[in-house]
Amino acid sequence: MRRIADVGAAVIGTGFIGTVHVEQLRRIGVRVRGVLGSTPERGEARADALGVDRAYPSLEALLDDGSVDVVHVTSPNHLHVPQARQILEAGRHVVCEKPLAMAAADSASLVQLAERSGLVNAVNFNIRFYPLHQHVRELVASGALGDVRFVTGHYFQDWLLLQTDWNWRLEPDKGGSLRAVGDIGSHWLDLMTFLTGAQVTDVMADLTTFIPQRAQPRGPVETFSTERSTDTVEREMATEDTASILLRFANGARGAVSVSQISPGRKNSLRWEIDGSAGAAAWDSETPDHLWLGHRGQPNEILQRDPALMGAAGRAAAALPGGHVEGFDDTFGALFRAIYSDVIAGRPSERPPYATFADGHDEVLVGDAVAESARLGRWVEVDRSPAHRPVSVKAS
Ligand SMILES: NC(=O)c1ccc[n+]([C@@H]2O[C@H](COP(=O)([O-])OP(=O)(O)OC[C@H]3O[C@@H](n4cnc5c(N)ncnc54)[C@H](O)[C@@H]3O)[C@@H](O)[C@H]2O)c1
Repeated sequence: MRRIADVGAAVIGTGFIGTVHVEQLRRIGVRVRGVLGSTPERGEARADALGVDRAYPSLEALLDDGSVDVVHVTSPNHLHVPQARQILEAGRHVVCEKPLAMAAADSASLVQLAERSGLVNAVNFNIRFYPLHQHVRELVASGALGDVRFVTGHYFQDWLLLQTDWNWRLEPDKGGSLRAVGDIGSHWLDLMTFLTGAQVTDVMADLTTFIPQRAQPRGPVETFSTERSTDTVEREMATEDTASILLRFANGARGAVSVSQISPGRKNSLRWEIDGSAGAAAWDSETPDHLWLGHRGQPNEILQRDPALMGAAGRAAAALPGGHVEGFDDTFGALFRAIYSDVIAGRPSERPPYATFADGHDEVLVGDAVAESARLGRWVEVDRSPAHRPVSVKAS
C-alpha cells in the first residue's frame, strides 16, 4: 500500500485558488513537486513565494516529471478542458477546478476519456466538504427531515459591483457565456444535488446584466484584487451580474436560488434552506460551524460543528474539535483527503463522495438549461438525452 507521503502532485495556476490547493495539499501530507504558471517567469516567482521546488516551463515538462501522480488544474475556465485532457492522456489523476468545461460537448468527452482511463477524476466542488454538509447529507438520506419539499437560498458576492471591477471571468472566451451562474451558482446547485440526493430536472431562469460596459485595465488582474488601473478600455458585457432561478428536482421538490456578484456587503455569502415534511435544515457560509435545524412541534436547534455530535461522514471531514472554527480553506483539506484515498488505491471508488467529472458534466448541463430558459423566457428541462450523455465505456 502506498503512503500519502509517496504521492506527488503538481498545480497548474498559481493565483487565488491555486495557492489554496498548494497549501492544503501540503497539509494532508502530499508532496507538491512543482507549479505551472501562465509564463515561466511568473511560475518561478510564485514557486519561490510558495516554497515549491520547481516551476515547470510548460505542461509537457510537468507531465515529463515521473514523480507527479496527480495534477490540479486551477487555471482560468477556458483552459480546463485542454489541460485536463492532456493530463489524462499522460496517465495522471486529475483534480479540476469548476466549471469542468464551458460547453457540454467538451465535458461529455472528458467524462468518456476519464472513464476509459480508469484514473481518479475530480471536480473541485469543495463546498460539499464543510463537515456540516457531510452531516446534512446523511441526515437527509436517513429521512430525518422527511420528504424534501422546498430548497431555497442564494449565493451573493460584491466584488464585481463597480463598473471598474475587472477579472478574466468577465470575458466569455475565458470564463464562459454564463458568469455568475457558472462561477458561483454552480457551487450552490452542486451542493443542493449532493445534500438532497436529487438532480435538478427543470429550470426557469431570469438573467440580468446591470452593468452593460466595464473598464478593462490593459494589464492582467488577479482575482479579488483591490488595485485599480487608470489605463483602461471600455468593454461591452455579455454575461449576467445576477440570476433568479426557479428549480424542479427529480424527487418532486421545488426550489429557488438567487445568484449575484453585485450585492454590496456580501463578500462571499452562500445560504441554503431545505424544508422537508418532518423538519428543516439551514446553513450560512458566514457562520459555517452552525447548522440550524427547524421543527414544528419542538424548539428549533443549532448544531455547532463537533466531531462528537455528527455522523460518520461529518466526523471524517472535520479536522478540529468543536468550538475551533473551521472555514473555507479546511474544506479543501477534507476534499483532498477523500480524493487522495482513491489516488492511493489507484482508481476511483465505486461512489466517490467528491464530485467526479460526471458530476461536473451534469452541472454544465444544468447551466445550459439556465441559459436556454433565460433566452426563451420559459421553463426548460435539463437535457440529459443521449446526445448530451457521455457514452458509458462500461456499457459499450
Ligand atoms: N472551488 C472554489 O471555491 C474556487 C474559488 C475560486 C476559483 N475557482 C476556480 O479556479 C480557477 C482559477 O480561479 P482563480 O480565482 O484562482 O483565478 P486567478 O486569476 O486568481 O488565478 C488563475 C491563475 O492561472 C494562471 N494562468 C493563466 N493562464 C495559464 C496557463 N496557460 N497555464 C498555467 N496557469 C495559467 C494565471 O496567471 C493566474 O495565476 C477558475 O476556474 C475558478 O472557477 C474555484
